[in-house]
Amino acid sequence: MAESNWTPDQPMVSAKDVHKSFGSLEVLKGVSMDVMKGECVCVIGPSGSGKSTFIRCINGLNDIQSGSITVEGQEVNDPKLDKLSLRKKVGMVFQQYNLFPHKNAIENIMMAPVLVLKEDKDEVEARARELIRKVRLEGKEEAYPGELSGGQQQRVAIARSLAMRPDVMLFDEVTAALDPETVKEVLTTIRDLAEEGMTCILVTHEMGFAREVANQIYFTDRGVIVEHGPPATFFKEAKDPRTKEFLSQIL
Ligand SMILES: Nc1ncnc2c1ncn2[C@@H]1O[C@H](COP(=O)(O)OP(=O)(O)OP(=O)(O)O)[C@@H](O)[C@H]1O
Ligand SMILES: [Mg+2]
Repeated sequence: MAESNWTPDQPMVSAKDVHKSFGSLEVLKGVSMDVMKGECVCVIGPSGSGKSTFIRCINGLNDIQSGSITVEGQEVNDPKLDKLSLRKKVGMVFQQYNLFPHKNAIENIMMAPVLVLKEDKDEVEARARELIRKVRLEGKEEAYPGELSGGQQQRVAIARSLAMRPDVMLFDEVTAALDPETVKEVLTTIRDLAEEGMTCILVTHEMGFAREVANQIYFTDRGVIVEHGPPATFFKEAKDPRTKEFLSQIL
C-alpha cells in the first residue's frame, strides 16, 4: 500500500473536486470537504442531490471520475490501495441494517473481525459484549434480529461496524426507516460516539440532531456543495437561496 505521511493535524478525510458520473449522468460536480479527526459533519440536502453517492465514494464503494479523496492521507482511489485496510479504517452504516437473521446480536457483531480479519474469537467476543453496552443494549446479547425493534437492530449494526475499530464512521440516513420512538435511541448512540471523539460523517434529515451535535453542516444540491458552516451560523445566516429554500421547507 502507498505510504502516507498523514499526521492528526491534517484532515482525516479530504475530498477535493470530486466528480462522479453514472453513465452520462453527472451526479457529483466537483465536491470538496475536509473533516478533521474528532469532527462530526452532517450532510443535508434534497433527495437526489448526491449525498449517498458522495459518502459511498469515501469508503471506495463508488469509484470517481476525477478529483481526489484521501483518508488519513491515503488516496482511496489509488489502485494499489489495499481495500481491506480502507474497510478497517472507514465504517459505514446504512438505512437498511441488513443483519444476518439467523445470527444473534453478539454473533452479528463478531462476524467480520473473526471471519475477515481472522482475529481471536475470545478477544472479539469480549469486545462485542463491550460494544453492546456502548450502544445501550445490555441484555440483548443473545437476541436475534427478529426479536429486536428497528432502532435496536440499527444499534447492533452500529456496534457491528465499530467492531472493526474504524477511525471514521459514515452514517447514511440511519434513522430514516425507523419508527419515531426508536429514532432517539439511535441518535443517542451516535451522539455518544461523537462526544467520545469518533470522527463522523452523517447524511441526515434530523436537523435538531445536526444543530446540536455537528461541528459543520454541509448543504448539497444537484451534485455540488452549495455552502457549509458551523450550525450556529449555518441555520441563521445561510446565504444561498437554495439553502434558504431547503431550510424553509424542513425547519
Ligand atoms: N448506482 C447508480 N446508478 C445510476 N444512477 C445512480 C446510482 N446511484 C445513484 N444514482 C443517481 O445519482 C443521483 C444521486 O443519488 P444519491 O443516492 O446520491 O442521492 P441522495 O442525495 O442520497 O438522495 P436521497 O436523499 O433520496 O437518499 C440520483 O439521480 C440517482 O438516481
Ligand atoms: Mg441517499
